[in-house]
Amino acid sequence: MELNERFQVLLPGSNVAFKASASDTLLASAQRAGVVLTSSCRNGTCRACIARLGEGRVMYRIEWPGLSADEKAAGYFLPCVAYPASDLVVRSFGAD
Ligand code: FES
Repeated sequence: MELNERFQVLLPGSNVAFKASASDTLLASAQRAGVVLTSSCRNGTCRACIARLGEGRVMYRIEWPGLSADEKAAGYFLPCVAYPASDLVVRSFGAD
């Protein structure tokens, strides 16, 4: 995967989509596109930004973002520290 590769991110329940660079966090790419996502710490610990993927893959550069193995397996991710590895469809925001 190239760092300048760009992916499409589709948000839930709307027609909102934005382009995300493989070299930027999803939160940063959303901000750049004018899409406001909930966030607080921006370092993967507070979980304010937690969301769940419907489709696609993300990657992390930190060893263990504030997610359990079960949450990761269920598709939860933290946009403030997650980088896109494919086109993404976000299923929901929040931890439900
Ligand atoms: S903003 Fe705190 S974990 Fe993402």
